[in-house]
Amino acid sequence: MLLLRRAAQTAVRTNHHRSFSASQTHLNERKGLVLGVFEEEGEQGSLHLTQAAAGFDQTSSGKLSELLKISGPTLKKGKSRIFYGIHKDFPCVAVVGLGKKDAGVCGAENWDTSKESIRQAVSAGCRLLQDLEVDHVEVDACGDAQSAAEGAALGLFHYDQLKSKKKTKVTTQLHGSADSVGWEKGVRYAEGQNLARLLMEAPANHITPTAFANTIEEKLAPYAERVTINKRSQSWIEEQQMGAFLSVSKGSEEPPVFLELHYNGSPDSKQAPLLLVGKGVTFDSGGISLKPSPSMDAMRADMGGAATVCASIVTAAGLKLPVNIIGLAPLCENMPSGKATKPGDVVTAKNGKTIQVDNTDAEGRLILADALCYGHTFNPRAIINVATLTGAMDVALGSAATGVFTNSDWLWEQLHKASVVTGDRVWRMPLFQHYTRQVTDSQLADLNNIGKYSRSGGACTAAAFLREFVTAPHWAHLDIAGVMSNKDEIPYLRKGMSGRPTRTLVEFAAGLAQSG
Ligand code: BES
Ligand code: ZN
Ligand code: ZN
Repeated sequence: MLLLRRAAQTAVRTNHHRSFSASQTHLNERKGLVLGVFEEEGEQGSLHLTQAAAGFDQTSSGKLSELLKISGPTLKKGKSRIFYGIHKDFPCVAVVGLGKKDAGVCGAENWDTSKESIRQAVSAGCRLLQDLEVDHVEVDACGDAQSAAEGAALGLFHYDQLKSKKKTKVTTQLHGSADSVGWEKGVRYAEGQNLARLLMEAPANHITPTAFANTIEEKLAPYAERVTINKRSQSWIEEQQMGAFLSVSKGSEEPPVFLELHYNGSPDSKQAPLLLVGKGVTFDSGGISLKPSPSMDAMRADMGGAATVCASIVTAAGLKLPVNIIGLAPLCENMPSGKATKPGDVVTAKNGKTIQVDNTDAEGRLILADALCYGHTFNPRAIINVATLTGAMDVALGSAATGVFTNSDWLWEQLHKASVVTGDRVWRMPLFQHYTRQVTDSQLADLNNIGKYSRSGGACTAAAFLREFVTAPHWAHLDIAGVMSNKDEIPYLRKGMSGRPTRTLVEFAAGLAQSG
């Protein structure tokens, strides 16, 4: 027994021990496999392999279960182990711990624990293999092919476009399951989020308002049949009398763009659209109310609202969701200059309301105000705006969940339901008159762009401000400042800009499509 364990440990830790000769394996040398194992409910130490893992175990004459038993304690949730040379087709096999089978939806956590565990485990397995420079990985569905695909594609994403030394590019494929539809759906969802991550992570000198709009246009090109794109220029924005938006863009040398996307997925072309509006500040220096230098670089992701909204529409088009969606993204930079808006200036929004701009760093609500006014002209069935709006949102919830401020219980329920499935959670926040009073009390104008008690309830006063530009009965404002980036909180996302909550938006749109 001792001898066997030692042999197994060698197989686990080093790359030298091979059960197959080099000539047998060299053709597939860079191919790997991720397999799942559940935590056993009853008997200590007994194995509970997934269907695919059990199948693999059979074809490898029980080698997998044997090695799992002798290589250490039973695999706990989130832990993984690599075995080399136990199958001629797969030189490297990563076995990942999935936790308890059938854990399902957890009321306290507001997510589906089984799905989250699969995303986490698969992502860990894929990354281990990527570190070994394996370039093709087959993945166990682990009972939910969509979640497995999401774990694989989200876990492997890494922004290294601008580095000379790049991580191994890994292609993935479903293993031992017939649910290719679930797998493909998961890949689409994850690629949508990865597109948002890419746009958010990219430096602001690469993703200017113009470059952002062009990138989205390129991504939507394959779906031209169902999609129309308008990249509105400064003169159009002026004609529209979007004085609040222009007051932000005027400090920058980069021209603003108002991006307008129409995805006509519904067989009923007259069906009222879902309207998605995203804050697209491609760099937020704060303007004349300049931000402090430390961490200012993170403000390249201040277009996260626009990125997640546009990426959701690209994904909806790829999935051919039978629903109409309009996406609006006011895109600009917020910069200080001789032409920039000054604290105390008064500007006029599209709906005629005047705004005293006491802090030029509270710019997101200004550009969204005009976009919301314009959006109402499409008579949408629901309006959702998404924005990295306030540092106060991060203080309130951190990165656990997106804050949702909404005037509609129905919209809240649909968004919440979608987020339980995706694991990219939302949490409802208040829209009290209490906060409205703090933004409507302005010395010079109808509104002030900051709450009169400055920092207190900052996310709530910002939401109350936006509400002044909404007349629709089903509107939700999603403040994503807290979930904008990931350190290590979400294990299946590497450190960097998160692209959250793209999958929740897509799942929400898919739900709408289903309900007609
Ligand atoms: N883009 C920021 C909010 C932000 C902060 C997003 C941190 C992500 C991470 C926004 O434009 C801003 O600066 N808001 C101010 C508002 C304040 C001046 C009322 C803030 O939160 O400090
Ligand atoms: Zn700002
Ligand atoms: Zn901002």
